[in-house]
Amino acid sequence: MALHLSPLHPLFAAEVRGIDLRQTPDAAGCAEIHRAMDRYAVLVFRDQRLDDDQQMGFGAALGPLEQTRGVVDAHKHRLKHHNMADISNIDVDGNLLAADDRRRMFNLGNQLWHSDSSFKATPALYSMLHARLIPPEGGETEFADMRAAWDALPQRLKDEVKDLVTEHSLLFSRGKLGFADYTDQERQDFAPVQQRLVRWHPGSGRHSIYLSSHIGTILGWPTPEAMALIRWLEEFATQRPFVYTHHWRQHDLVIWDNRSTMHRARPYADKTFARDMRRVTLTDVAPTLAQRMAA
Ligand code: OGA
Ligand code: MN
Repeated sequence: MALHLSPLHPLFAAEVRGIDLRQTPDAAGCAEIHRAMDRYAVLVFRDQRLDDDQQMGFGAALGPLEQTRGVVDAHKHRLKHHNMADISNIDVDGNLLAADDRRRMFNLGNQLWHSDSSFKATPALYSMLHARLIPPEGGETEFADMRAAWDALPQRLKDEVKDLVTEHSLLFSRGKLGFADYTDQERQDFAPVQQRLVRWHPGSGRHSIYLSSHIGTILGWPTPEAMALIRWLEEFATQRPFVYTHHWRQHDLVIWDNRSTMHRARPYADKTFARDMRRVTLTDVAPTLAQRMAA
């Protein structure tokens, strides 16, 4: 199989042509996709009319899938597969979520720059988001290249941050929007985990800044000092030259590498229009602190 790759941005992100993902790629095809991911970190496949089983099948062919979802009201899951993430504004009956629904409040957190599942001990590897239904306007997804951000960081800052350890939790990211409405069980499930602030990517041999809205502190630092630095790094890393904006078409499948990119949702009129996006997520091999820092 020869994938045709067309870059979408000077630094990263490419569109892939010449593949129909309704047929699960064989081992050689998957290896080619992994190689393209190592280089581009974000891949866009247009016009892929996948159903849930086909999307899950493609994900499972690329690597082990995450088994848990980090959401509130987990028992109100709309989709057939328990580990397919529902990135929509639709409830189990097909209605738009009410304006004051806590799932809607919680989901607004996707508009903050983040890396998926950085709040889990072993975070996400790839996310594969498929557009089933899109609103007429808004609802773009932005991606930032955290390898390019690392490369551009002044040496003094590289030295300062390279060995730092952060704590991540959904309680921190949602708290930034003032959301604090949890059950005791959710509070326990969302207890903070530790991650490296700078990581190394074995497929590309590159370093990246591992930022996420889920960060709530740096180990051993006073929290305000930690969060001031994290905020500075986030602003640095999401400068326009590092960002690719994806304008969705129905049936797009976009895959991103959470080890080397951040992303965020852009707003849309979610009280008026449905947006039905479904995500299959691959799991990383180990907590970041247990991973090698360089070859
Ligand atoms: C996600 C996510 C952004 C969007 O699926 O993990 O953050 O635009 N999505 O829906
Ligand atoms: Mn996300």
